[in-house]
Amino acid sequence: MSEISKVERNSTYLKILWKDGEESKFNYMWLRDNCPTAHDKDSNHRMFNILNVSKSINPKRYNVNKSGKLEIEWSEGDHISYYDTKWLRENCYTIKSKKKYISPYELWDFKLQENLNSISIEHDEIISSDAGLIKWLELLHHKGIAIVKNSPVEKESAFPVLNRISHTRETFFKTPFEVINIPKPNNSAYTAHSLKNHMDLPWFENPPGYQFLHCLINTAKGGNSSAVDAFAVANYLKKNKKEIFDILVKVPLKFRDKDYTQQSHRDFHAPAISLTKDGDFHDVRFSVATMDTLDCHPDIMEKVYIAHHEFGNLLHDDRFQIKFRLEPGDIYSFNNRRVLHGRTEFDPNSGKRHLQGYYIDRDEIIGRLNFLKK
Ligand code: OGA
Ligand code: ZN
Repeated sequence: MSEISKVERNSTYLKILWKDGEESKFNYMWLRDNCPTAHDKDSNHRMFNILNVSKSINPKRYNVNKSGKLEIEWSEGDHISYYDTKWLRENCYTIKSKKKYISPYELWDFKLQENLNSISIEHDEIISSDAGLIKWLELLHHKGIAIVKNSPVEKESAFPVLNRISHTRETFFKTPFEVINIPKPNNSAYTAHSLKNHMDLPWFENPPGYQFLHCLINTAKGGNSSAVDAFAVANYLKKNKKEIFDILVKVPLKFRDKDYTQQSHRDFHAPAISLTKDGDFHDVRFSVATMDTLDCHPDIMEKVYIAHHEFGNLLHDDRFQIKFRLEPGDIYSFNNRRVLHGRTEFDPNSGKRHLQGYYIDRDEIIGRLNFLKK
């Protein structure tokens, strides 16, 4: 597959014809920048500086040499580069740019509730095997939700299983944060009230990517959990209500931390839905509790509220959300910027409810999964 049949020179690139009929363009500056000698052998950081060559750098001479490498003698710098053709083929941006994007996200709706087994994984399986860890990470990355079953129920006992992924993300709520009803709460999670489907900490520039709610005790009446795939709701709007979708993508909303214990005012503007370079969903920002007083332009405020209203109601619609009850030993794990979570109110006099919460950044989930899959 990585055998070259012909190399042709053009003004700014070499055109390579491969034996299997594929064709690649390799820009001269790109080739010079990616010379295999450009990187330090230990740190892997690029030591060569493309900014020091002229923009008109080009091959003085080129050929496929006896060992099958593409050899280029450059017009300046007195340098010859030798490229492994397998590397060139694997990194060919002409072929990559023709490939159709495939989303990693498997969107879901209320039907997932009948198949909660499909998102459940045993605690000990993750602790004792990489296969178990990969299964958990794949659920988190692709479905955005997983329930770890039969974990220990001692305080802070989720650390070993979480550290199979990586370190946790610290916030001023501390790690773990205690989800328990307290007097004079600084967060509505620390009451016995119901919590509408929300994400945590949308007022951070970079809200935690993943959240883990470890159930230690749940004997109180009420306090049942909910989850909704906000990417699935966004996708529904994209297909059925494009005008609403476009407003949610374009208009920045304002979120603000309202915690009275803080000697800091944190706020951030971001749209309700943001997209990746491929037009896929990147994240959702939604929290009725911590959306601040909006400050959009007066000409669009009505439209923004209508879009927010439509999105928010679908995020609580029984066609999309699932409902379940956490058992002691469950770790309800989810993509905090995709899957919104909520709970019904509970009666603190009827029993006890104690969850411990942890965050891990999205880079850690995807980075670890990429590493384990290689
Ligand atoms: C939270 C939260 C849900 C629950 O702590 O962020 O939303 O079930 N808790 O108590
Ligand atoms: Zn929450």
